[in-house]
Parts: sequence; structure tokens; C-alpha cells
Amino acid sequence: MEPATQSWNAARYARTARFVADFGEALLDMLAPRSGERILDLGCGDGALTQRIAARGADVVGVDSAPDMVAAAKARGLDARVIDGEALDFTCAFDAVFSNAAMHWMRQPDKVIAGVRQALKPGGRFVAEFGGEGNIDALVRALVAALGRRGLDGRACDPWYFPGPGEYRARLEAHGFTVDSIALFPRPTPLPGSLGDWLDTFAGAFLNAAPEAERQAIKDEVADAMRADHCDADGRWTVAYVRLRLAAHL
Ligand code: BEZ
Repeated sequence: MEPATQSWNAARYARTARFVADFGEALLDMLAPRSGERILDLGCGDGALTQRIAARGADVVGVDSAPDMVAAAKARGLDARVIDGEALDFTCAFDAVFSNAAMHWMRQPDKVIAGVRQALKPGGRFVAEFGGEGNIDALVRALVAALGRRGLDGRACDPWYFPGPGEYRARLEAHGFTVDSIALFPRPTPLPGSLGDWLDTFAGAFLNAAPEAERQAIKDEVADAMRADHCDADGRWTVAYVRLRLAAHL
């Protein structure tokens, strides 16, 4: 059976996931884009952060594999292109590659790092943050359990890659990068709406593996499993994100 896939809807993303770009502001400070620099935003989504890089005076190109998100980025007036992060095809074109909350969707990390390396000019830098080891553990367990109760293999549906710093440092160094910093840190993330909204936005690979008639029940079961530790008395949800943040250069 072909694995079910995640699909991206820019309007829903704008409604339920604006926090992704807001949390990216600290990473933008770490990138410290300078006027006139050429920067690649890898996994630019709807371009909310790409636009903030451009506002700092850099000449930025955003790439994303999701056509609907790229269309939203273009609507902001950005240079955005539909390109898979595991098949980057730039050569010696950028002073820096930036990536926020995207690389956990790219399950072939060596292809990503090789493409980043090739895209950078000599001495170029790579600044990225994405889900790291332990990210949303309880949520993944609850999804796998809910699918398992229906005879489905949730682990086979898992679309995410959450590495630890040791593993990722070794990969970067094997591709010729010098790692300036790499660290894992917890970042509990309050959701603007329900856990069901988050699942609709991000967990399509799990939900779409089940018949449509089962999906609401799966979301309810996941919420029930998570409620005690992730939802307060006023019904506000917080998801246990763990980030891997890195800065490296050639
Ligand atoms: C994250 O940002 O860590 C993330 C977002 C959606 C799905 C999985 C992970």
C-alpha cells in the first residue's frame, strides 16, 4: 500500500499555524541577514518568514515542495519556487541557507545537506531549526495507537525525521561543514486552537491512512490520550515541541 500523504492548504495554514513563523524570529536573528546577501529559504511555506528576511535587505529565494504554499509566498511578491528540499539544484548561488520548521519533513537528510552544500558559495553559512529527537513524542505515540486499534501500521505512516544533535553533526561534518553550534531544546508550543486543528494541518499522513469515516474518531482518541498533560482547565492546548537548532559554515 502506498503511504498516505500530507497535503498543504495555505488558507488553513494561515489560520492554524501562524505561530510557526512567529517562533522563527529568533532563528532569523541568528541568521543575521545583511543587505545585498543572497539567501535561500529552504521549506519557505507561505513565505511569512521569507518576507521578514527580505525586509532586512537580503535578496531571498524561497523553495517549498507544496505548490499551494509557494503560490501564497508568490502572492506576497516573493521569488518562490516549487522545489523538493531533497532535490535542490542550485550551485554556488547563496551566501546562506536558512530553514525553519521544515527539515523534519525531509526524511533523506544526506540529500538535503548535499543540496545545501552545493547551493552555498565558499564560506557560506547554514542556519536551521526543525523538530529534533523526542519532538511531539506523546502525540506520535497516540496517533500510532489510534491507527493500531484499526489494524493500521502507524509507524509506517510517520512522515517525520527528528534527529539528535550527535547524529546531525556527524552528517553535516561528513558533507564538509564546520558546525558552529548545534543543540536540542524543549519548546512547549501553545496552540491557537484545538488539537484537532493541529492534526488537520500537520498529521494528514496518519489521518489519511484511515477511512474518512474513522478520522474524527481518531482525532478524538488522540485528544483524549493527550488531554491530561497537554490541555489546561480552560481548554488551551500546548504541544511538547523539541527543536534542533544549528549553525554551520563551509
Ligand atoms: C514541528 O514543527 O516540530 C512539527 C510540525 C508539524 C509536524 C511535526 C513537527
